[in-house]
Amino acid sequence: MERSEKLIDKLAQTRDLTDEEFLALLEDETEETREALAARAREVREAIHGKDVYIRGLVEFSNICKNDCKYCGIRRSNRNAERYRLTEEQILECADMGYDLGFRTVVLQGGEDPYFTDDRLEQIIRKLKDRHPDCAVTLSIGEREKESYQRLFDAGADRYLLRHETADEELYKSLHPEEMSFAHRIKCLRELKEIGYQVGAGFMVGSPGQTKASLVKDLRFLQDLKPEMVGIGPFIPHHDTEYKDCEAGSVNLTLKLLSIIRLLLPDVLLPSTTALGTADPMGREKGILAGANVVMPNLSPSSVRGKYLLYDNKICTGDEAAECIRCMTARVAKVGYQVVQSRGDHVSYKEKN
Ligand code: SAM
Ligand code: FES
Repeated sequence: MERSEKLIDKLAQTRDLTDEEFLALLEDETEETREALAARAREVREAIHGKDVYIRGLVEFSNICKNDCKYCGIRRSNRNAERYRLTEEQILECADMGYDLGFRTVVLQGGEDPYFTDDRLEQIIRKLKDRHPDCAVTLSIGEREKESYQRLFDAGADRYLLRHETADEELYKSLHPEEMSFAHRIKCLRELKEIGYQVGAGFMVGSPGQTKASLVKDLRFLQDLKPEMVGIGPFIPHHDTEYKDCEAGSVNLTLKLLSIIRLLLPDVLLPSTTALGTADPMGREKGILAGANVVMPNLSPSSVRGKYLLYDNKICTGDEAAECIRCMTARVAKVGYQVVQSRGDHVSYKEKN
């Protein structure tokens, strides 16, 4: 613990550690170290964001995907997944409902569904922005060409979430089919940054084959890319994948990593994810207390909620949107923070504008 205390001090002051020091911190699995990291992370997040927690309304608009990521419940080779795709009208209705409930960011997330061409997406983004000019639009629709990212940005999209999944190239290869490449994923992230999106990278904690050394590579990668957002959550097995019998990722390790990421990138927008809430009934509250400052309640129509199943036992698949926001607001308040009605942009965006 004594060594870990020194490492936490060094990390908070310099925003850096050597690989060996990162590893030592990750390998110290004591509660004291986790708590000490969380306390530091809270100090840093409160100095920048106060007690505010930003909300994002998540619209899972298609579970059709041309990719075949081995860990993912909606990958193309899962014949048991019941597929759906929302219409433009349904997507806009979700956004309208979200707006009325106080959301000022809508996140459009889906599989890589070829139906959603640039033309179709541009039209949806423009209509969203026409109806709600004070709302941010975040896209989370996977790998595309730079021209496509540019067109969607020009249509009004503000942010893009594309987890790098792992910065350990060998691990990336083992988690994905041959036609997917780590180099292309990273190229996409760099292009998104160049275009001017607020960019979110991220990874699963405890994916099959991941070591603590792989996680150190993830931390280095984040230091280098400096994304505005970082999404992390525990890996959770899905029964129709080859990883069905693998162990889920550790909640405590995820919490430690949230705190470390807060110290590495003090002003980052850091969600307390649904996967964390699925792995532990108090996971999202614990995430907030570990330094997270974003939650993403679901706005998808209840008729499709139960079909966007990336992993088993996903929470909130039966609730209406109004119920989700009420529940999240109460959970956040219970641990001493407050959900705020705002776009919740990254500080660098606010400075630019
Ligand atoms: N298609 C888009 C993409 O590739 O970025 C967005 C959807 S994708 C399903 C969103 C994220 O879900 C992935 O980046 C991955 O990290 C996470 N995910 C997929 N399967 C998971 C699992 N079994 N456990 C935890 N997270 C998972
Ligand atoms: Fe495409 Fe999971 S494999 S969303």
